[in-house]
Amino acid sequence: MQRLARRWRRQGVRVALVPTMGYLHTGHLSLVKRARQLAGQHGQVVVSIYVNPTQFGPREDFSRYPRDLKRDLKLCRGEGVAVVFAPSDAEMYPRWGEATDPAMRDEDARPTRFSTLVTEENLSRLMEGASRPAHFRGVTTVVAKLFNIVLPDMAVFGAKDYQQAVIIKRMVADLNFPVKIVVAPTVRERDGLAMSSRNKYLSADERVQATILHRAIQRARRAVRSKAVSAARLKAELKKFITSEPLARVDYVEFFDSDTLRPAVVVRRGTHMALAVFLGKTRLIDNGQL
Ligand code: PAJ
Repeated sequence: MQRLARRWRRQGVRVALVPTMGYLHTGHLSLVKRARQLAGQHGQVVVSIYVNPTQFGPREDFSRYPRDLKRDLKLCRGEGVAVVFAPSDAEMYPRWGEATDPAMRDEDARPTRFSTLVTEENLSRLMEGASRPAHFRGVTTVVAKLFNIVLPDMAVFGAKDYQQAVIIKRMVADLNFPVKIVVAPTVRERDGLAMSSRNKYLSADERVQATILHRAIQRARRAVRSKAVSAARLKAELKKFITSEPLARVDYVEFFDSDTLRPAVVVRRGTHMALAVFLGKTRLIDNGQL
């Protein structure tokens, strides 16, 4: 991949990368279409498909995360993708993925032939980072590796994982990656549920109630349409609203500044909202600007 990337560079071919964990849906494909536009007629689009073990916690869904490479390849071909980069664990993290001892994936376990990690030290502690301690360290590490392997001019990320996109932008600025980060809008199902590979885990009842994330954002939008309101009060009100669905359990609801992720004390139009909600055992996230 890197050899091909270097050849493209020499030839002046513009390269746009879309990093994914596969099991592609319409949301992913919207990023690919955007990358196709950005790369232009003579450019190339690379999609990476890699279920990155370092961004999953020890009790999370790494081993049962849905995978269907054959179908993904077909979808990518249909979108004019030049290359799908789908490395193995051994290739990305020598000795890490080979571990038979599950403790090897633990926080403190140090893989023997892979020991350099990229950590964003600030924004990674909030929201998703508070609930999933080593998550963003895994994300920034793998994305830094993908940038060095694919050498893209730009990379497209989805607003669906809003905090992730902001952290990647921070990493790129802090470490001087010559990559332009583009954030594309969240693609939703007809009933408002944000598309996600994890929606596959939902039972029929959970799937119906899962629209509560989107409905909570809309409710917050209405609440601040004509006046600013206290974050604490709106948060309490939304938590009650969300748990009116019997299968829903709130992990967090947060209000913050879109650019800096700084928590908002007062919520007004333009404030960003993000939330994580369990539906049964499945944890879903969503966000939007109010
Ligand atoms: P994954 O969850 O597969 O998502 C890949 C990209 O698709 C991310 O940028 C994500 O924000 C975007 N995406 C997912 N659902 C979307 C939707 N409904 N609408 C628009 N975009 C959507 O995010 C990851 O993988 C990983 O953390 C990764 C960045 C690949 C690093 O391993």
